[in-house]
Amino acid sequence: MESEYFDKKKTIELRKKHIGPSCKVFFSHDPIKIVRAKGQYMYDEKGEQYLDCVNNVAHVGHSHPDVVKAGTRQMGLLNTNSRFLHDNLVRYAQRLQATLPDRLSVCYFVNSGSEANDLALRLAWQYTGHKDVITLDHAYHGHLSSLIDISPYKFHQLSNTEPKRSIHVAPSPDVYRGKYRADHPDPAKAYADEVEEIIHQAHEKGGKIAAFIAESLQSCGGQVIPPVGYFQKVAEHVRRAGGVFIADEVQVGFGRIGSHFWAFQLHGEDFVPDIVTMGKPIGNGHPMSCVVTTREVAEAFMSSGMEYFNTFGGNPVSCAIGLAVLDVMEKEDLQGNALRVGRHLTKLLERQKENHPLVGDVRGHGLFVGVELVRDRVKLTPATAEAQEVIYK
Ligand SMILES: Cc1ncc(COP(=O)(O)O)c(C=O)c1O
Repeated sequence: MESEYFDKKKTIELRKKHIGPSCKVFFSHDPIKIVRAKGQYMYDEKGEQYLDCVNNVAHVGHSHPDVVKAGTRQMGLLNTNSRFLHDNLVRYAQRLQATLPDRLSVCYFVNSGSEANDLALRLAWQYTGHKDVITLDHAYHGHLSSLIDISPYKFHQLSNTEPKRSIHVAPSPDVYRGKYRADHPDPAKAYADEVEEIIHQAHEKGGKIAAFIAESLQSCGGQVIPPVGYFQKVAEHVRRAGGVFIADEVQVGFGRIGSHFWAFQLHGEDFVPDIVTMGKPIGNGHPMSCVVTTREVAEAFMSSGMEYFNTFGGNPVSCAIGLAVLDVMEKEDLQGNALRVGRHLTKLLERQKENHPLVGDVRGHGLFVGVELVRDRVKLTPATAEAQEVIYK
């Protein structure tokens, strides 16, 4: 019987011919061709099973039947845009809002984490009337031009590595290998003071702060867990300067950290960002995302007089899928699962630390867990090649 799949060589050949060369594949010397997936497993064209340790999107498991059913049902009924009234849109907004502090009550539905962060910047610029943005070192916030500008993780790869004049890079609040470490008497204050100093310097040069943006826990930037109190103090400095606090929850939101639904909630009930951006797991692989903000920020955005329209954002199919993801999370207690499995995983990794001097640090919350490999536990020399090898294996 003829296979429905191309021979792998042919897929690679066609990919080289027609797909942009900067789009990379996993395991480039022998890429894996995955043709289906279920739950935590992926299968290649020969039926070989792989445990999926790299997708941070298939939040409730690949091809979850409830999510597939919700999407299929709505696709068979209607798909259109948010200029029509539809209950899926308002029902979904209501459900998302119920997971957030009351102040965060207004949603904009978009299609990717990048779109969400770009819109968050537009909201901040419009609300504050200011232009300058403070971002963290090593941060990644997306692939749009506006976001490469605030993503040192990306712009450091370019030959011209200087950020734009209106972009300011604060040190990553990394208490393992950063400027202020766990032995510092108050790393939260010390890192927040750095932000305050950046604000002073920006003011001296005539800049005005529109926003501070950070992932609630830095992911690509090195699985960094900011010291408790840091965000509150930063928010005070930034708001005093007339700016807003944007929490990027694209990677770390939706219960992944186990103890809370959103990672910014680790900082206590008195800390509420002005804007929260969401993506990746929100649709379990379906391209959708969201920006949630306060009534005041949304009203200011409205006052520009420009309509906000997004062809696909908030369409009835995406909202049906988003609702199904939330239902599955509740029904299967996936947040509780993240807490329990995360604790178990962390315990096992801690044991590896006892056995292997290469393991410098194990840190995380729930199923957001990082292991830092070092050649020397005192000098913290990065074990880059070793880390590559472990990741590859
Ligand atoms: C923290 C964070 N923000 C934003 C993005 C951009 O999301 P997308 O790739 O969906 O545009 C990413 C993607 O990796 C991310 O990790």
